[in-house]
Amino acid sequence: MTPSEYIKKVPKAELHLHIEGSFEPELMFEIAQRNKIEIPYESIEELKKAYQFGNLQDFLDIYYAGANVLIHEQDFYDLTMDYFKQCAKENVVHAEIMFDPQTHTKRGVEFSTVINGIQRAREEAEKQFGISSLLIMSYLRHLSEDDAFETLQQSLPYKHLIKAVGLDSSEKGNPPSKFQKVFEESIKEGYIPVAHAGEEGPAEYIYEALDLLKIVRIDHGNNGLSDPKLVERLVEEKIGLTVCPLSNTALRNVDQINNHPLKKMLDLGLKVTVNSDDPAYFGGYITENYLSCIDALDLSLKNVKQLVRNSFEYSFLSDKKKEEFI
Ligand code: HPA
Ligand code: ZN
Repeated sequence: MTPSEYIKKVPKAELHLHIEGSFEPELMFEIAQRNKIEIPYESIEELKKAYQFGNLQDFLDIYYAGANVLIHEQDFYDLTMDYFKQCAKENVVHAEIMFDPQTHTKRGVEFSTVINGIQRAREEAEKQFGISSLLIMSYLRHLSEDDAFETLQQSLPYKHLIKAVGLDSSEKGNPPSKFQKVFEESIKEGYIPVAHAGEEGPAEYIYEALDLLKIVRIDHGNNGLSDPKLVERLVEEKIGLTVCPLSNTALRNVDQINNHPLKKMLDLGLKVTVNSDDPAYFGGYITENYLSCIDALDLSLKNVKQLVRNSFEYSFLSDKKKEEFI
């Protein structure tokens, strides 16, 4: 079997997916219409043409604008269900889904509206497709730590539905240290800490995420490669890295997929996984991410098997559940 044939069929897990980043233009137009909200694009094609990014901020501006049309619980349900339908097609059997409450509460949408819609879809996906999932509540790092504390408070009635906390949005100039206290408190509440680090920011931010936020998994982490001591530590401490190849090229962190460091990371013994990040914006869901790397980096079947195995091993599933898949 070729690596490409293998990856299309094999049960796999996705560990880095922003639900707001799975918002396909078709659904965006549909929801905008029913909520009577204007989108500044004439058509789906015109909107898709705007998906040309020079960096992370270019993308985030469009991503937050897209999320503006999400108002009702049903909207969050439809958004999440769309993602699960894609998971079912690609044999993603477990998904760890990030959501950004502040993207919505800042616009006057209640925390409960967001989480109830997502939760209903999770239950439906489990029932209909047998897909397991868990939630990572991500704090927006361009906002203040006080704002994140407010979000933490809002989440507490729903603590049983949320597994982990994360840190996303504009990385440069917003180091992990800015959120040390809110992560400390989040851990006390029982949330597992993760954070985006080393996507656009320096290796120093990865050290901060590890040492100050006590994170157990890193989202992206590519820029850690510039520091051999850090690489050694990530390998030694078995820190999972949720790498997103098509995101990295779309946001110009890597100039072209042939130059993506995924294979190098694997060869160094880093605990890498492959993920889609914001698939509606970056040109492909998880399988497409794998296929692009298989093609461009000449990944072997052994490499791909390792990546799939990592996707379960570095998930937040219980050890017993992991055993079912590995
Ligand atoms: N990076 C940082 N923040 C984000 C991203 C990303 O790729 N997607 C959604 N929020
Ligand atoms: Zn991300």
